[in-house]
Amino acid sequence: MKPAPVMTSALAGSLITSSFGAFALLATNACAETIADINGNEFVSPYRNNKVSNVTGLITAKGPEGFWIRSTSPDQNEQTSESLYVYDNGTASGDLASGDIITLSGRITEYRSSPTYLFLTELTGPSNIRVVSEGNEVRPVVIGQDINRPPTEQYSALDDGDVLATPNNVSQVSTANPELQPSEFGLDYWESILGELVTVPNPVAVSKPNQYGDTWVVGDWNKTGQNARGGLTLTPQSGNPEAIIIGSPLDDTSNPEDTRLGDSLEDIAGVVYQAFGTYRILPLTALSIVSSQTPVLPEPVTYRSDGTCKSLTVADYNIENFSPNSTGVDGRAEHIVTYLNSPDLIFLQEVQDDDGPTDEGIVSANKSLHVLVDAISGIGSVQYAYVDIDPVNNEDGGQPGGNIRNAYLYNPEVLALANPNPGGPLDATDVLEGPSLTYNPGRIAPNSSAWEDSRKPLAAQWRIVSDNSSFFTVNVHFTSKGGSSPIEGDARPPVNLGVDQQTQQANITAAFVADMLAEDPDAAIIVAGDFNEFAWVEPLKVFVAESGLVDLDEAAGVDPVERYTYLYDMNSQELDHIFVSKRIAEQEPKLEHMHVNTWVSYDDQISDHDPSVAQLNIC
Ligand SMILES: *[C@@H]1O[C@H](CO)[C@@H](O)[C@H](O)[C@H]1NC(C)=O
Ligand SMILES: *[C@@H]1O[C@H](CO)[C@@H](O)[C@H](O)[C@H]1NC(C)=O
Ligand SMILES: *[C@@H]1O[C@H](CO)[C@@H](O)[C@H](O)[C@H]1NC(C)=O
Ligand SMILES: *[C@@H]1O[C@H](CO)[C@@H](O)[C@H](O)[C@H]1NC(C)=O
Ligand SMILES: *[C@@H]1O[C@H](CO)[C@@H](O)[C@H](O)[C@H]1NC(C)=O
Ligand SMILES: *[C@@H]1O[C@H](CO)[C@@H](O)[C@H](O)[C@H]1NC(C)=O
Ligand SMILES: *[C@@H]1O[C@H](CO)[C@@H](O)[C@H](O)[C@H]1NC(C)=O
Ligand SMILES: *[C@@H]1O[C@H](CO)[C@@H](O)[C@H](O)[C@H]1NC(C)=O
Ligand SMILES: *[C@@H]1O[C@H](CO)[C@@H](O)[C@H](O)[C@H]1NC(C)=O
Repeated sequence: MKPAPVMTSALAGSLITSSFGAFALLATNACAETIADINGNEFVSPYRNNKVSNVTGLITAKGPEGFWIRSTSPDQNEQTSESLYVYDNGTASGDLASGDIITLSGRITEYRSSPTYLFLTELTGPSNIRVVSEGNEVRPVVIGQDINRPPTEQYSALDDGDVLATPNNVSQVSTANPELQPSEFGLDYWESILGELVTVPNPVAVSKPNQYGDTWVVGDWNKTGQNARGGLTLTPQSGNPEAIIIGSPLDDTSNPEDTRLGDSLEDIAGVVYQAFGTYRILPLTALSIVSSQTPVLPEPVTYRSDGTCKSLTVADYNIENFSPNSTGVDGRAEHIVTYLNSPDLIFLQEVQDDDGPTDEGIVSANKSLHVLVDAISGIGSVQYAYVDIDPVNNEDGGQPGGNIRNAYLYNPEVLALANPNPGGPLDATDVLEGPSLTYNPGRIAPNSSAWEDSRKPLAAQWRIVSDNSSFFTVNVHFTSKGGSSPIEGDARPPVNLGVDQQTQQANITAAFVADMLAEDPDAAIIVAGDFNEFAWVEPLKVFVAESGLVDLDEAAGVDPVERYTYLYDMNSQELDHIFVSKRIAEQEPKLEHMHVNTWVSYDDQISDHDPSVAQLNIC
């Protein structure tokens, strides 16, 4: 792919310049590299580590460590960017201004601060800077109007059709260096306009700001996965590369920290850049919020249990490292009472022990759960009871010392454990004839290596007090994606860390469910929790195939773009799921994801996950 003659002239230019003086200047000048030549039609510049001379460009923007130039002789090839970053570490650009047309020489380098990122092409050590003219008009190009819009589904030809495909890291962009296909692949698109001064028209925030104030946005161009709030939901084969993160402003102002999902923003002008594992736009000045979505919080769920097997209400909520000392005790209680309508049964994850992250050997969460139950009864009418099993100290992962575990809250006027016989942390509950459980509640295969540094699932059998109908539950919290490589990073498909362990966890949990269904194909079974994974990815494909359960989102007909409980990068996404046996799936179940945390500002969120609430007929 690399144009060999161009390589030769680049090398020739620098060699001749140093060895043969004046004669060479003429020769070099005659074949000065254009910015399009330098960028080339692949990710890595054909001039990498070569010197270039007399490159001509219009200065479009200045930053603290360099400036951006745009070609004055663009080609017509949409694969090759017409702009380039000049890195001078703040030394060369003092007298230069946006609007100057200059020529300069320097060396082309590919820079990244981590091997998991993509490279930024830059001209370093600029020299022989000559101002050709000043005061030229600098106009950003409008994405989707002056230049093509970004593609909406795939990131890279190397992703095997889905950014979440397995196996991971089959190839790397930096070594495969594919020819850019900007109309097909998101990474290729943003690479093809790297360095360009652009305008994002009518942007909408699709994330909250991260700790640096960087916010993902999508402009007024075609999108996939758009949810009713204005976010972009991750769906199968569509990772939403049409979104772009807005980084630190070039004029030293700061982006707002209270931006919310779906906020409308002023048009953003800035340069396309690559850093910290993503393509990004460095705006000329700070983001400005035009308007926010209303209402701030969702409408509370309308369904309510009548205390019989016909209308059991069940919720699932990862309450994020909850201990008696957590902030937002009342906030969590209000979510449960007001927004979830005090469901009969609540699957909780991330309940910490009574001294939270303090690591002094305490594993009981009685006080943590009491504090929550009391906060709920303080504002609502239900006095919940709770069930959990203390883990072995520091064996289940999560925040060090916190001993997070799964727990159930239940309304004892509606539900009771069926023949309670609680297991200890190392007792494996098994399926007996009936079916019934050896330990109720009990942990599933706690000694299996699949659960190393991870939460063991908590299984239970319940009966409804009014009619004694029985059902089973498994509360899960699979291992996390922590340490994964960036969605826009070098490894393709990206490394989804934990996917192999999750697959083992899914397999074991599914086998347990399959044992129950082998005993009674008509059993009422609910498996819910934080699976830390999406429905179409390997672990959950295995789970559904092996367990015979049905995804409640499917059974309840939740619109695929409204299936989200979490925000990460540019995506609204669903890590938390409820699966039910066919008997339940076939009796008109209802399900809502209650966006009490994803919709509010970062400071106002109480957990990083949204709860979900269902109404099920288990008769
Ligand atoms: C660059 O172009 C200028 C003006 O045409 C010329 O004077 C100079 O020698 C050239 N420099 C190089 C390194 O080619
Ligand atoms: C950039 O400049 C700073 C301060 O002037 C200096 O400490 C640093 O070493 C320079 N970095 C490079 C890569 O030259
Ligand atoms: C991907 O694989 C390459 C080649 O084996 C390796 O160098 C790199 O570290 C891997 N990347 C990640 C993020 O694991
Ligand atoms: C993109 O958006 C334009 C204008 O809104 C529309 O006409 C066109 O059909 C869209 N294309 C696709 C592929 O959705
Ligand atoms: C809880 O917070 C209080 C006040 O900040 C502190 O005195 C106490 O040690 C904390 N308790 C635990 C168990 O962390
Ligand atoms: C926690 O509560 C359970 C159930 O009431 C009880 O068996 C256990 O002893 C309690 N643990 C502590 C440390 O108080
Ligand atoms: C798990 O291992 C412990 C010893 O580490 C043992 O006491 C316990 O019986 C084992 N549990 C099962 C279900 O095998
Ligand atoms: C349900 O079962 C319990 C325990 O076996 C029994 O005490 C109770 O009377 C039963 N209730 C109904 C409504 O059948
Ligand atoms: C699931 O577990 C069974 C039994 O241990 C094993 O044969 C199978 O290969 C596993 N499947 C996956 C996808 O891990």
